Amino acid sequence: MGPLAHRKLAAAASALKATRLMGISLGIERVVISSDPETAREILCGSAFLDRPIRDSTRLLMFDRAIGFSPSGSYWRHLRRIASTHMFSPRRVASLEGLRQAVADGVIGRVETEMAATGFVELRGILQRASLDNVLESVFGIGGLGFGSEIGDELGVMVREGYELMGEFNWADYFPLGFLDFFGVRRRCHRLAGMVSEVVTRIIKERRKKGDFKKRDDFLSVLLSLPQEDLLTHADMMAVLWEMVFRGVDNIYILLEWIMARMVLHQDIQAKVRHEIQVNVGRNKRVTESHIPNLPFLQAVVKEVLRLHPPGPLLSWARLAVHDIHVDKCFIPSGTTAMVNMWAIAHDPAIWPDPWAFKPERFMERDFSIMGSDLRLAPFGSGRRACPGKALGLATVHLWLARMLQNFEWLPLQPVDIGECLKLSLEMKNPLVCRAVTIC
Ligand code: HEM
Repeated sequence: MGPLAHRKLAAAASALKATRLMGISLGIERVVISSDPETAREILCGSAFLDRPIRDSTRLLMFDRAIGFSPSGSYWRHLRRIASTHMFSPRRVASLEGLRQAVADGVIGRVETEMAATGFVELRGILQRASLDNVLESVFGIGGLGFGSEIGDELGVMVREGYELMGEFNWADYFPLGFLDFFGVRRRCHRLAGMVSEVVTRIIKERRKKGDFKKRDDFLSVLLSLPQEDLLTHADMMAVLWEMVFRGVDNIYILLEWIMARMVLHQDIQAKVRHEIQVNVGRNKRVTESHIPNLPFLQAVVKEVLRLHPPGPLLSWARLAVHDIHVDKCFIPSGTTAMVNMWAIAHDPAIWPDPWAFKPERFMERDFSIMGSDLRLAPFGSGRRACPGKALGLATVHLWLARMLQNFEWLPLQPVDIGECLKLSLEMKNPLVCRAVTIC
């Protein structure tokens, strides 16, 4: 369906008057798509669509043993419980502020260096590396990451290759033809899985050898310290750790690049957020996470960008019906794939007045939760399979945005291109290139 699939599906649903539910076939796969908050709720929060369709690349890259794709039985519940207690709990998210601050310092340093060297900044690479370092440290607790660190470089390349492969349309998923490997997707997946196993196994072995995991609180150490009855096999642990790294990188840097593009494009709004920071934090004090609740306009900016440019416009990973069900009175057989077109809902003029305009103020007028309870804007999904990393993701985005706006004035170098391209996530078609002027 191409790099604008979410738009094409939205246009088709609207032309066919099938926004509540539209059925299509992708090869042998039956798919229904909701572009409406009510049917979206039935799909996401009901009891039927609890699994996800597993693609060739998903299995080959070991994701079928990790949280995102394992079937919704006891193994998946076990993984979610471990992750919510040890990776995503409010206490754990708060305890990682020091790490987020240190990574933000690195971002600011890199921006200054690039500005001094070239007079402009391309943020994508900087944010990509920042997200990677952030997640690697919280998952593996290796220390000494940052540009040029060997393990960070290796895993960074692997995450990028995995991202390309997972976003690639693979004909074999829809027209199973046995041994045929169109475009070499399978071969590349096998190769990448081998590389991931080698690196992650090496890290796990070193940690076991050191034996100090009971005293540490990174996610790997937590997994190694679980009571006997909860312990994961080596292969499962590897899959879960790899998934955390993989999922923790793209959404965050992609969202931040969109936000910064909007900040460069709408100078008045950028000035308003900075003013809010200066009033609430002061000019000479560094923003901390305790300031974020007092920065409602900054939070509104993030919500408005999530509305206009949701990183997962089709909620990234579709759902699969585990039993027959009726949605909006239509019979949907077990085994049907369902997608929610969150991009279409978030651009629906019947729901959002002036939907194409960038107006963070709309979120100042009323309290609006984007955490999954209101399906008019649920960029993290909803129901039992909603994103477990949403609080961690938002904490990171809020802090880094505040630090970037506190330290620099962001100015255009050329007209900002807000063209988009849907791969695994919805990213900017062309990287943002701009100027950053240090605020004294
Ligand atoms: C801006 C940041 C993020 C966005 C927009 C986002 C979005 C999403 C969406 C739309 C889903 C599918 C939800 C559904 O089916 O209802 C999802 C699932 C998931 N996300 Fe996130 N995510 C973000 C950050 C993260 C982070 C930081 C992590 C982990 C480090 C993470 C881990 C996961 C996992 C493991 C799942 C699968 C849950 C399951 O199937 O049980 N996400 N995310």
